[in-house]
Amino acid sequence: MASSEPQSIDSKSKVALGVCGGIAAYKAVEVLRGLQRAGCTVRVAMTPRACEFVQPLTFKALSGSHVIVDDYAPDNPDPIAHITFSQSADLLIVAPATANIIAKFANGVADDFLTSTYLACSAPVLLAPAMNTTMWEHPATQRNLQKLRSDGVHIIEPDAGEMACGTIGPGRLSEPDRIVAAALELLKGTTQHDLSGERFLITVGATREDIDPVRFISNRSSGKMGFALAAAAKQRGARVTAVTGITTVQPPVGVKTIEVKSAEEMADAVRNELQNSTIFIAAAAVADYRPAKQAAQKIKKNSESLTLELERTPDILAQASATRHEGLLVIGFAAETENLVANAQIKLRSKNLDIVVANDVTLANSGFDSDTNTINIITRGDNEPLGLPSMSKAAAANKVLDAIVRLRSGRATAKTSTS
Ligand code: CTP
Repeated sequence: MASSEPQSIDSKSKVALGVCGGIAAYKAVEVLRGLQRAGCTVRVAMTPRACEFVQPLTFKALSGSHVIVDDYAPDNPDPIAHITFSQSADLLIVAPATANIIAKFANGVADDFLTSTYLACSAPVLLAPAMNTTMWEHPATQRNLQKLRSDGVHIIEPDAGEMACGTIGPGRLSEPDRIVAAALELLKGTTQHDLSGERFLITVGATREDIDPVRFISNRSSGKMGFALAAAAKQRGARVTAVTGITTVQPPVGVKTIEVKSAEEMADAVRNELQNSTIFIAAAAVADYRPAKQAAQKIKKNSESLTLELERTPDILAQASATRHEGLLVIGFAAETENLVANAQIKLRSKNLDIVVANDVTLANSGFDSDTNTINIITRGDNEPLGLPSMSKAAAANKVLDAIVRLRSGRATAKTSTS
């Protein structure tokens, strides 16, 4: 999320801001102000330790509301605050999120106000961790973060730099304007229903092509980008079906999934579903080749070398485009290692697509298995590609959906414009 000037949102969104006990707690004040500038109403909850760093009075004065630290405290005006607080929020942000709160959230511990609020919250959750580098890199913290990601929690990774404790490395709270921008992207999904009436069909993850009963050909795709698109489209009001190959993350709640393994199975599932869809996005990393023959038994190592003959798999995206019905938008991805935009433009034309999302898979923190992506959106009829900075996959997904909405409102689809 690069923009330093956060955009504002249309309606008055309600944000619950949780503040934990870390040296970065003072930066939560900037997050609060940024959200208010963008038009949000913000209520604050603090852990008891956070109050050692910043007084609740600071947040009370700025938010204009009672700051909840302990819902059992006699001055708490609401007897079931963790329920009312969490249920009335469109988004829960925790900034800074300490290693301790991350561990508690990941394991469902609800022993204070903020942890109970998290468990009672059905709105999207955004965590902005901040901690010492060694604590951040500890396998326990990374394991807990992984759990939270698969529970659908959005994480805005800490920055690298010099820490308050003097060490240098990742762990510093992400800049408040980046946290605000990520929050606004998520809120857009909760408040905008600009895709209602659309029926998305999205291919997700990697395919697996069997060589024999124990071996296969596959790739590093995690499914994170495809599922981010599915989650964002669902949030923006669409009905979503995901045809999923092999993924390392769970599908988002409320999305219909059809599980497949090989490119052939994925092609069949797409063929069956396409007629009922209005938008097709090919986000899967489909194997381009598969073994020409699958051995029925495990191949024994009884010779010095082994040659596998490979044959082409069906090009699911090209088939969907070639057989498209009136009104269907067809969107593809282009994972490139060189000449990014030029190669992606060739794909747009040769497969007759409406939009190509191009990413350079050689960039750090981009593409396969990363939580962030750096994409270029190339829309049919536009002279210039939309080059975007590195951002979370959730934010990137919303940018792709914005391009779809623009295309839908402004221009015809590829087939209708050329026929
Ligand atoms: N794709 C597909 N079916 C295939 C291969 C690719 O649907 N058998 C889709 C992918 O989901 C992606 C797009 O095609 O949306 C581009 O995939 P990519 O591998 O980047 O390009 P290819 O068209 O396969 O061409 P090349 O590998 O030569 O770059």
